[in-house]
Parts: sequence; C-alpha cells; structure tokens
Amino acid sequence: MEIVGVIVTAAWAMLPAYVPNNVAVLAGGDKPIDGGRTLGDRRLLGDGKSWRGTAVGTAAGLALALLLSELAPTASDLVGHQLPTFPVLAGLGLAFGAMLGDIAASFLKRRTGRERGAAFPGLDQLDFVVGALACVRLLSPEWTEATFTGPVVLVVLVFTPLLHVVANVSAHAIGLKDEPW
Ligand code: CTP
Ligand code: MG
Repeated sequence: MEIVGVIVTAAWAMLPAYVPNNVAVLAGGDKPIDGGRTLGDRRLLGDGKSWRGTAVGTAAGLALALLLSELAPTASDLVGHQLPTFPVLAGLGLAFGAMLGDIAASFLKRRTGRERGAAFPGLDQLDFVVGALACVRLLSPEWTEATFTGPVVLVVLVFTPLLHVVANVSAHAIGLKDEPW
C-alpha cells in the first residue's frame, strides 16, 4: 500500500480510539473508579477517572465505529482506498482499550507522585494508543492483523502525539479542559 493509503487507513482505523477520552472529558465527573481508595499515601487513580466518563467514552467510541462501518463504502470511494469496516469487537476493543490505557497512565502518574491533572510527557500522548492497540488485538486478532499492518502502526505512533497535542491545546483554549495536555 502506498503512503497515502497507509495514512488514511491509520486515521480511519484509529478514530474509535481517538474519540473516547475526549467524550469522557465532557461526560466525566461522577463516582471515581477507585472509590477514593489509596495506595500508600496516594490515590489509586484519582478523581479524574470516573465510571460515567469511562462508560460514556467507551459507548461513544463504539457507536462511532459502527457508524464508520456504514460509511466505509462511500468514504472508500471518496479517498480512493479500501477503508476497513469495524466488527463490534474491534470497535469495543479500540474504544475501551483507549480508556484503559488512559486509566493505566493515571495509575502510573499517582505512583510517580504526580497529582491529578499533572502532565507526564510521552505517556499522556501515547497511553491510549497502546491501550487501544493491545485491547483490539486481544478482542479481534484477525481484524487487527489485517488492518494494523507495520506501516499503519508506524504512522499511528508518529501522528497520534501531534494530534493529541493539537486537540488538547484547543480543548483548553475554548475552556473544555482544565489543562492543555
Ligand atoms: N474523565 C473521566 N473518566 C475517565 C477519563 C476522563 O471522567 N476515564 C474526565 C474527568 O473529569 C477528568 C477529565 O475527563 O478530569 C480529563 O481527563 P484526563 O486528563 O485524562 O484526567 P485528569 O483529570 O488529568 O487526571 P489524571 O491526572 O489522572 O490523568
Ligand atoms: Mg489530564
């Protein structure tokens, strides 16, 4: 596949993983997943990881995957490349995995002494990508191998941090997010 095909495939296939954490920012705020528990003298995860944010974010990512599946034929014609449809398990793996990666990062942040909202450069930009790819690989292995070829994964790993920075600085600028990361 040539480079344009690789890039449009990467962007398309990752959309259900990009959306959940952003929707969680809008939906979050109820009961924390860790129930206020601590490990040592710090919270297990913190108030920034809520049940509602996680559930609504995951549902939004899955819904988007199903919508993209419907649009795939038309979108493929438009860009001149065969874009993948998403089996339910693939959509779920991408969406829930993205949330899980972000939750795991919060766990690491608290263990390394970072308060809620503190930045952890590198981890902040890639936690959800690693979570999404690991989870979708587990839930839908054949689809994942066919879709996320070596070059596609490479493009995802290079472009996602850039996209993440732009999205979060924008969300902060318009007042949706407390911090620009
Ligand atoms: N959010 C949520 N549930 C999640 C992820 C996010 O409710 N699983 C909501 C929370 O309101 C959170 C906001 O989205 O404060 C921003 O998310 P994020 O930046 O990931 O959390 P932080 O508050 O920065 O907390 P942490 O330092 O633990 O990442
Ligand atoms: Mg944060």
